[in-house]
Amino acid sequence: MRTQWWQDAVIYQVYLRSFADGGDDGVGDLAGLRARLPYLADLGVDGLWLNPCYRSPQRDHGYDIADYFSIDPAYGSIDELAGLVTDAHRLGLRVMMDMVANHCSDQHVWFQQAVVAAPGSPERDRFVFRDGRGPAGDTPPNNWHSVFGGPAWTRVAETDGTPGQWYLHSFDSSQPNFNWRNPKVAQHFDEVLRFWFDLGVDGFRIDVAHGLFAAEDLPDAPEYDDGLPHHNDAMWDQPEVHDVYRTWRAIGDAYPPEPKYFIGEIWVPSPERLRAYLAPGGLHQAFNFDLLVQPWDAGRIRTAIDAGLAQAEVVGSPVAWALNNHDVHRIVTRYGQRQDLSPLDPADMIAAARRRGPVDFELGSARARAAAMLLLALPGTAYLYQGEELGLPEVFDLPDAARQDPIWVRSDGSELGRDGCRVPLPWAADAPAFGFSAPGASAEPWLPQPAWFGRHAVDRQDGEPTSFLNLYRDLLRARRTVFNGTEPLRWLDTGGEDVLAFARGHGICVLNFGSTPLQLPEGLVDAVVASSSGGLTGAELAGNHAVWLDAARVSSTSATSGWGLTPELAGPVQR
Ligand code: GLC
Repeated sequence: MRTQWWQDAVIYQVYLRSFADGGDDGVGDLAGLRARLPYLADLGVDGLWLNPCYRSPQRDHGYDIADYFSIDPAYGSIDELAGLVTDAHRLGLRVMMDMVANHCSDQHVWFQQAVVAAPGSPERDRFVFRDGRGPAGDTPPNNWHSVFGGPAWTRVAETDGTPGQWYLHSFDSSQPNFNWRNPKVAQHFDEVLRFWFDLGVDGFRIDVAHGLFAAEDLPDAPEYDDGLPHHNDAMWDQPEVHDVYRTWRAIGDAYPPEPKYFIGEIWVPSPERLRAYLAPGGLHQAFNFDLLVQPWDAGRIRTAIDAGLAQAEVVGSPVAWALNNHDVHRIVTRYGQRQDLSPLDPADMIAAARRRGPVDFELGSARARAAAMLLLALPGTAYLYQGEELGLPEVFDLPDAARQDPIWVRSDGSELGRDGCRVPLPWAADAPAFGFSAPGASAEPWLPQPAWFGRHAVDRQDGEPTSFLNLYRDLLRARRTVFNGTEPLRWLDTGGEDVLAFARGHGICVLNFGSTPLQLPEGLVDAVVASSSGGLTGAELAGNHAVWLDAARVSSTSATSGWGLTPELAGPVQR
């Protein structure tokens, strides 16, 4: 049985800028989201996570915060946010925000003060400023690379105009890293958390939660000549970070009537390293990215699930699964590409989810539907990314001039970056801007929507019983009744090599990864709760399809002999 709301929740990630424009400027906002809350309630999710919507120059679309105690005017106001929280709570939806504590924007007042202050001043000590190397100090303090490409250091000019010190930025040069060894920084974030919790926000997703501290002496990273990205141990995941989360947890736990919830975005190369974040008194959860980056392969997916579940057992907290987010290519596209079965680079797992290459949309869509059935049957928390429920593919055909992601900019276009999963949502197939902005809006959507986006529009899918949207609605409803809370899963032996099947509660989830149809045992067909459309013909489950069964509806006891189903599970059960 679950004890806290998030432990078996489905949480919908809102990339606010691209969700719905309640004004007419082509940029999504809180008013647009507020108006669409009934859509989310009807979809059947339990909560929302908003990507950062604080005041920001938007160089990394909100992950560069200029003021942590504000809402960006393009998105609304504090009152609007408070109104959103009230409306959401009324509909039974929790609201989470995004906490970016590794860095702020170069427009943050602290950074502006630091730039005009002297080397060694308290203002500079809130960030990581160092002298450069070489007699003229014109070589960066160490050899670290930024995640977005290029060096992790940028040099400032001192107030007399001479070239000066360098500051550290793990991401874009507009995102200076905080110095978390300065207690003022820690104090600032304690206040930020309380500010939003006092407004009723239910929890936070923590951006690059393994960032915060770099090794104090900032040692050079080893040089490799294989041209591959390597995890820089000194730049991430330092032991000091765990104290920060213990403090945050204590702050959140003190809120009646319900403790606040924290989930970390943590990319570390091993489960042991991840575990340290989830020790008692630390974060409640970390995203499981292992499943998200796997190719379409029964063995690989089962291994990822087993590893996640084993980890959950050790830390005593259910897994937070996801198949999509705002940083990776959308799943329809990933699963429609050639599947790469080579081992993943544990230091750069995300690369596996941002590949280019030809896409078979039909195949990708079938697999994405089946994957949704897997995701929503697993024990624990499931995160959905907006547009996933519409089966949106990645938009690869954005004009170069329209691209905005700093990854695209800093790599001189050699990396496409993440704009393709952030294109404003299509709400109405025949409306201008596909209904994203109101008719007569004064500006086009901030990223251009391709002409084919209309095919995926909400209004087009609404009345189609077999649409992606209706599949998600059906699954979210059925999940509550057949798959029981956080109850563990039990793998079933179907005899099929390319098949994964498990039972949980009185639900059974079966996925056929291969191309040979799978024959369901006699008696189980009467128990179908949901199937990925077109997948089931009689008792035959086609390849790249999935089915959910309700063991309580199994009509014949002979089904118990197949797949290792026990009589207690395989029913028939009286309810
Ligand atoms: C995280 C976010 C990503 C952002 C980066 C820098 O990885 O998910 O979108 O660009 O941190 O804040």
